[in-house]
Parts: sequence; C-alpha cells; structure tokens
Amino acid sequence: MRVVLVSREHPLGDPRGGIGTYTDTASRALARAGHEVTVVTRGEAADLREDGVRILRLDHRSLPHRYPERLLTARRTAHVVAALEPDVVQAAEWEAEAWWLARRSAIPVVTRLATPTYLVERLNGAEPDPRADLLRRLEADQARSSAAIVAPSQAIADRVGGDWGLQPGRITVIRNPVETDAVRAAGARPAPVALPERFVLFTGRLERRKGVHVLAEALPAVLRAHPDLHVVVLGDDVGAAGGDVRSQLLERTAFAAGRMHLLGRLPREDALAVVARAQLVVLPSLWEAFGFVAAEALALGRPVIATSGSGLAEVVREGDGGWLVAPEDPQALEAALLQRLGDADGLATASERALRRAEAFAPGAVADELGALYEQVVAEARGISTSIYGGGYRRYFRPEDRRDPFNRLYEAKRRAVLTRFADEPSLAVLDAGGGPGRLAAPLAERHAVTLCDISAEMLEEAGRRCPPSVRLVQADARSLPFDDASFDALLALDLVVHLPDLDAAVRELARVVRPGGRVLFDSTNAVPWWVLAYPGYVNWRPRRLLRTLRGGGVLPEWAPTVRHQRAGEVQAAIAASGLVLEDREDFGPAWTPKWQLWVTRRAEA
Ligand SMILES: C[S@@+](CC[C@H](N)C(=O)[O-])C[C@H]1O[C@@H](n2cnc3c(N)ncnc32)[C@H](O)[C@@H]1O
Repeated sequence: MRVVLVSREHPLGDPRGGIGTYTDTASRALARAGHEVTVVTRGEAADLREDGVRILRLDHRSLPHRYPERLLTARRTAHVVAALEPDVVQAAEWEAEAWWLARRSAIPVVTRLATPTYLVERLNGAEPDPRADLLRRLEADQARSSAAIVAPSQAIADRVGGDWGLQPGRITVIRNPVETDAVRAAGARPAPVALPERFVLFTGRLERRKGVHVLAEALPAVLRAHPDLHVVVLGDDVGAAGGDVRSQLLERTAFAAGRMHLLGRLPREDALAVVARAQLVVLPSLWEAFGFVAAEALALGRPVIATSGSGLAEVVREGDGGWLVAPEDPQALEAALLQRLGDADGLATASERALRRAEAFAPGAVADELGALYEQVVAEARGISTSIYGGGYRRYFRPEDRRDPFNRLYEAKRRAVLTRFADEPSLAVLDAGGGPGRLAAPLAERHAVTLCDISAEMLEEAGRRCPPSVRLVQADARSLPFDDASFDALLALDLVVHLPDLDAAVRELARVVRPGGRVLFDSTNAVPWWVLAYPGYVNWRPRRLLRTLRGGGVLPEWAPTVRHQRAGEVQAAIAASGLVLEDREDFGPAWTPKWQLWVTRRAEA
C-alpha cells in the first residue's frame, strides 16, 4: 500500500518531539512490512531516502504569524501529498497539518491523536491563546473529517473523543512503536557528559504538565535522605508558557545545588545514553497521551516511577518495571522515591521486568495493526458499503456545514418541506430515514413525530437533537415495523437514493400512511448536469467530474451504495404504489435540478 505520513517534526527536519519520534519509527516499520512509505516533513527542500522510506522535505515559506502560516502549510502539504497519489495518509491532529487533505481531498486520512492544542493548554494551566482558536477548531475538524482515528492509549481516546464528540467506535487504539534495538544501541554509547555515580533522572520539557512542580516539592526530602544521590534533568525550559517550573525546581533544591544537574535538551542518542545510566527514572506528568520516554526507559531496563490516570499508566504498569503514583501528589511521589531508592534488590528485579515489558511496543506488531486499519479505510473509501450506516455516515452527509456544496440548496429543501406542514393540524408523522432529526425536531413542535432510521449512530444523534416526544425507532425502510395506515403523513428526505428497488421502496412508504394521507419524498436526479453547478462536489477534479457524470451524478466511491433516478422512473413508481402526485418542487439549476421533491397523497380507499 502507498502510505504518506505527514509530520512537521522529523529527525531530519525540525528537532523532534514525540511526533517526530513516532514518525521515524512508524515509517521504518511500515516500510519493513512492505508498504511504500513517504514522509512529508519540513526543512530545506530535499528528496531523500532512508531505510526504504522516502523523505520529502518542504521548505514552507515562513510567515511572521504562526497561525496563518499553519493554514498555508496545510494547503501546500495537501497539494504535494495529492501528487504522490497515496492510498492513505496519516498525520497527527497537532496543528492540523492534514486538515486540508481530510476536508478537501478524496484521499482517506487517518488522524493519530498525539495531544491536541486545547489539551496541552489545559494541562499547562495556561489561558487559551485566542489566536490559536482557529487552530484548535481545525485540529478537531481534521479528526472529525478523517476516515479513521487512531489513539496510542485508551486514555486519550476517551478524553479527546469525549471532548470532541467523536463516536467511540471511530477511534482505534494502536500503541506507539518503540525501536527497542536502536534505543538500546544508543543507550550503550559512552555518556556525553561526566555523570554522577548515583542519580534519579527526569526527562521531558520543563513545563507544568510534565509535573516538574510536583517533583520540585518531592525532591528535598529525598535529597536529604540520600546524601549521595544526584538528580539529572534533561529537557528544554519552556519558561512562563510552561509555568516557570524550572525556577521552582531550583529554588526548592537550592540546599543541594551541587547535586542538581540541569543539562537542557541533548541530542536524542546522547539523551538515551544518560537515561541508560539512571538508577531510577521519574516521570510525574499530570497527564500523558502515551509516554514515549517511559517506554524508552523501560527498553533500557530502567525502572520508572510514573503517574496513574492517563496513557502513561498504559505504558508503565504497576510492578511491571515501574510503579505508579497519583498525579499532583508530591507526598505520594516523595514516598515512592524514598521507598524505591531504599530497596536495591527491588530496583534490580524491576530492571529485568522493564526489559520484558518494553517488548509490548515492538514496531513490527504496531505496523501490522496500522496496515490492517489502512486496508479497511481504503476499502471503505473505494466503495462505500452500506455498513457505513452503522458508523461514520455523518462524515459524508453534512448539509448544515457551510462548506458543503449543497448547504444552501439543502436548507431551501428543508424549509420547503417544513412549510408544507406548517398549516396542517397536528398529525402523526413518520420521518423515514430521518437521520439526525433535522426535520423531525422542528416538526415535533406541532406534530406527533416518529423518526426511523437504519443507523444506531444516527438515532443517537437524533436523540440529542429532538425533544423527548419524538419516538425513535431503528428500522429498515424497506420493511417498516408499522401496521398499514399507521400514520397521517410520511416524510422521506434523501432516503430513496439508498434503497435499491425504487418501486418496492415507494410501495412500502405508501403502505404505512392512511388513505388520504400525505407522502412526501425526494429523489436525486440521474440526469447529471447539475453536477457542473457544484464543482466542490467533485473536489474540483476533472477526472472525478467525468466519472461522476457517467455515473448519473453519483460519486465513484458511492456507486455501489446509492442510485439516482430519472423523473420518469419516480413517476412510474408513484403511480404503481397507489399514490397520487399532487405537486413537484425542483431544487438546483433550472436546466437540470439536483433534487426533486415529490408531494403525493395516498388515494382514498
Ligand atoms: C442522507 S441521510 C438523510 C437524513 C435525513 N432525512 C435528512 O434529510 O437529514 C440518509 C439517511 O437514511 C438512512 N438510511 C439509509 N438506508 C436506510 C434504510 N434501508 N432504512 C432506513 N434508513 C436508511 C441513513 O442511515 C441516513 O440517516
């Protein structure tokens, strides 16, 4: 499979953080598993190849303002990636690098949750930066518009999935890979600086969310109890944005200043050579999506004290090469450090267990899981099967989104339908294939509405949108679970395109309405010239336009699932089902409408 990983961070581009480390390891593992992998990153423009991975570096124009720059970068990246014609693209949500692709291209995008901007701000206790508002929205929107979402831990899947209202079934947990052999090789190198004999190590950016302020509280008692113990700290100081935690650390340990070694950020291999020599690694993060440094410490056989309640606890398991304490609890951290440092045998056993635990992050297994997910995503994008009604359908049909090419047209249709019900007395109405309740909710103000849909996901959303008086029924419109003549009126918008046998579908809809009752449904016109009026529908792509025109206005990936109809076919189905056509309203270009709304009445008995 042709896979593109988009990542501004990469060892060959910007200095790497977790996203860069992930991209490097995952890209190599995917290439080893037989995929054709390209990493699109930034840096001085170049096209390189390393370990079977093509690395394309883009020299993005620098703008003085960070946020507009991000958007332009996303657009340019999308163009470059589209030219590579990949089967699938993967990118982190961070800074919405793949937003343009997810939104504007037909290439399926897999978004990997790293840690979104809103969460980083929240964890750092920082006021949300109003300038980053757009970015925060784009990150969420990229995830929502993606074909699939992966998360390195259940913790981030639950937290971000909940905050962004993502369907739990849409997020697949696939842990991050750790290149154990490379980590161990780096760990075996000579230390880059003279190190103390016995030291506890903290590694990570010096910011609140890493729990540096908690460590500052816990350390004094530990340093006093162990006069030969030193503390080594690796990582950039983020300053005020990270809560000024470096100064807190130095103030609280000033009495042992000679035993505190703040080495700043070291090149990765040097950093690993330091980690490998620590007696104990301490990672008191408030919350982590995963915890690369913890997994790497385990791979180096270093026991870790970490915090519970986040993805970190899915990497470091209690008694399995490490121990967990509650986050934001300096007393608990102090007690754990004192207990573990006083137990040399316990540390030796933990070291052996850590080595074994690290095998859980083997890149080969992770690449296999990613490959299986890509297969699924690509199959779905190539021919959308009816299984999408079970989940993910919302991604395809979002007429209330202003960027949807049919946004205004759909609204005109919706209003026209509601107007036709406005002067009626209170009726028993069935909204068949009612989806998320766009019509059922306003109709319920006056009428007794039942909404039925085949999709549990849609019904869940309808439950949130509609008043409790609306009855929600999961049912297939081809065989409705209602007696004959159960309703005064029936409504079916954008439904019959999904029902393969038009005659049978209209007959079944007519059956459940009482004689004299109204049946209102629409069809999408198989005479496809209306497509020319909505170039966004085919993503402005000429080849896609031709295929769509040839397919009667149906996008290629929908061809197996939906069918558009000619007016004559619909009229025949209406007549055959005992309905009387009262009116027809067209929506879209006058020369060939996109939708035709059929207003019919069931013949009196
Ligand atoms: C394009 S949406 C339209 C939703 C709604 N009528 C509206 O206008 O917002 C089509 C809906 O039909 C539902 N659907 C598709 N096939 C169906 C079937 N055989 N029986 C019932 N509902 C079906 C889908 O789950 C989806 O909610």
